Parts: sequence; C-alpha cells; structure tokens
Amino acid sequence: MPSSRIRPLENPVTFTLDGEELEAERGEPLAAALIAAGKTTIARSPKFHRPRGPACMRGACDGCLARVDDAPNVMTCLVPAEEGSAVVTQNRLGPRDTDLLRMTDWFFPEGMNHHELFAGVPGIQTIMQGFARRVAGLGKLPLEAAAPRPAARRSADVVVVGAGPAGMAVAVRLARASRAVEVLDDQLTPGGGVTALAREDAAAFEPIRAAFSAGVASGAIRLRSRTTAGAVYGRDLLVAGEEGAEIVEARALVLACGAHDGALAFEGNDMPNVMSARAAGWLLSRGVLVGARIAVVVTGGGGPFGESFARAARQRAEVTVLHGEPLSIRGSSRVKGVRVRTATSEREVDADAVLVDAARSPAFELCQQAGAALVHEPRGFVVKADDGRIADGIWATGEVCGLPFDPHALEAHAALVATQIAS
Ligand code: FES
Repeated sequence: MPSSRIRPLENPVTFTLDGEELEAERGEPLAAALIAAGKTTIARSPKFHRPRGPACMRGACDGCLARVDDAPNVMTCLVPAEEGSAVVTQNRLGPRDTDLLRMTDWFFPEGMNHHELFAGVPGIQTIMQGFARRVAGLGKLPLEAAAPRPAARRSADVVVVGAGPAGMAVAVRLARASRAVEVLDDQLTPGGGVTALAREDAAAFEPIRAAFSAGVASGAIRLRSRTTAGAVYGRDLLVAGEEGAEIVEARALVLACGAHDGALAFEGNDMPNVMSARAAGWLLSRGVLVGARIAVVVTGGGGPFGESFARAARQRAEVTVLHGEPLSIRGSSRVKGVRVRTATSEREVDADAVLVDAARSPAFELCQQAGAALVHEPRGFVVKADDGRIADGIWATGEVCGLPFDPHALEAHAALVATQIAS
C-alpha cells in the first residue's frame, strides 16, 4: 500500500468513488482522501488514456479531474469532502485502473491525429468519428443545465490576489493602515507554499501567518477562499467564486500570484504518483503520505520543498533525495523507480512515488494582462517592477516579481508596496 494516512481522522465523512465507499476528513480535498485510500489513478489523458493522478494539489494540472455530484471535469483537489459526495471517474471503458481505451496508446506509439482517422472514407468515417469522440472527449455534460448567473459589478478599496506569504504580508500592512482589505485565494485554505513546508521550515513564516490570521479573525481582512481572479481588464478584475462571477474595480489591486511548480519534460512524468514536492509536502502536512519508498529529485534552481518534505517524512517512509535531473520513470501505470542524472553519474532508484522539486516559474499571467513589463529567464517570465507598481492602481509583489521564497525578502517588498498604496 504505497500511500497512507499518518494520523487518525478527527471528523470522518463517507464518500464514494465509482460507488465504492471511502472515508475522508471532512473538508479535506477529495483528491487527498483518494490518495490516502491508495486511489491514485483518477483521470485519463484525453486521447491516449494514459493514467493520470494528482500532481499539483492546487488546480494546475489535470490529474485529479472527475465527475463530482454530477458535475463533470471537477478538480477534486479543490473540492472539500462532504458526507455523501459522489466521485465518478470519467472517459474510461472498463475498470478504472485498466481502462480498455488505453489500447490507443499502444496501437499508435508514434501518436495519432484522430481528426483525420479514416476521414473521407464513406461509412467508416462516421464510425470513426463516434470512436474519436469516445476516445478524445473529456467528461459528459451535466444532467441539468445550470441556471445563468449574471456577473455583478462592484467597487472595493484594496483587493489582494493570492493568500501566500507575499499576499498575506501586504494585506496585514494595509489593514494596519486602516484600509479595507479583501484577499482572494483559489485554494481551500490560505498560506500558499508555506503550508507545504515541514513545521521547522514553516516557522520562519509564522509571524506573517499569525498576523494575517489575527487580521482575518478581527474582520480587518476579508479572506475569500475558493475564489479565482480570472482576468484583468484595465482596472476591472474578473472574479469567479461559489456565488458566481463578479467584476470588481479596486482603488488598489495587488497581484501576489506566487509561482507555478516547475514542470520538467521526461519520460513518464505524467504517471500517477509523480508529483511536485510542494504538493506532497502539502499532503503530508494534512496527514497523507504519498508513498512508502519515495524518491525526491531536486533540480538546479529547485527548493525548498523537496528537502523540507524529506525532513518531515523521513521518520515514516524511506526517502531518497537526489540532486540532478530526472530522466525517466520506471513502470507503465504505476511508479516503480526513477532514473536520474546527477553531477557525477546516472542513477536509478526504486520508488513508489517520485517528487520533483524544480525551479518554480512566476505566475505572471494576470500581471501581464494588467500591463506589466516581463523579462524572460530560464525559470519563466518574471514581472519587472522593482517597486511593485505595474500600472495605475495595480501592484505586484512576491515570487511573481522574481523574489525568493524567503520571508524577509517577501516582507520587505510587501512593505514597499503597502507604503505606496497607503500614502
Ligand atoms: S489540478 Fe488537482 S491535482 Fe492538479
């Protein structure tokens, strides 16, 4: 049994996966409960039906997509487990773990353009179109059409996008300056990358977290979790949340969007139980261990999540940390090992889970829409704004500006931004 829970459930609920009853901690992401139950193959790639599992635990891959309570293509890493939740895997023929449509991967090892398969051949073309729809589709439509929900328009004083350490730090300072601060975050809980660190590593960020929690508890900061800032149009911010969509014009908008996990191209990188070290650390902090024999690959520019995970997990699992470049995963639908090129040699280690800690790329997208200047670096596009100001009334701060994931650097830049806004 590769994955497991390391502490008992405090508030268990029962949900189902394809009709099978499973337990979860109330409110934890459904994907976390599935991993804890050893159900790591959740989705299938749309065309070749390769098995996919949660890789990011933050709504940034497609490994956890499933039908939940009759809604298709739900990212189960962003949905809290409730009593009676019904999760159904999609786009498979036959059992979830085998999926007979996987044959397309074996029959077309060089790839296949399903749009042209037998196109123009009378009769066969129609049959093949039906087959292609079955093979390449993703989910089925909901049983009922959702009622339209018009977007509301409103104004706000300060809106901060992102409740990672940078967003928390700037929100705290602006709340202390008596500004009405609203923080939007698309995750279930605030904290960003801090929540993926071992306790001793997270301690350095504790003053920021404590001040933010106090601000939220007192009402000085309004935190809206599970709320996505989708786009910036001039001074308008498109926001999507549980209640629907809205367009918010803030007197000051701060984009603290953080960074994406580093994604590397190597053979087998999409296999279930190959995931970012940050995601595995996040799961561990919630009591879910992703394997019994875990390889952590830290590449140049990576950190701190791989080493931090190893520190936290070593008492409970066999953890090997390798500094180098992952070359390939051994296994066809289940991880059996990883081959890594280190500074001196190539090594292969046995593992039932492989964690990758690569250089993270700034989540620059909203900043670019707002008009930010970008510089391209090996890790990705970085917002170029020394004082954080990227447009009239819009600022950026944190890793999106290329700052290191370091509490002092993040605090200092947040202070610079907050001073400009408050003055
Ligand atoms: S999108 Fe859910 S694990 Fe990546």
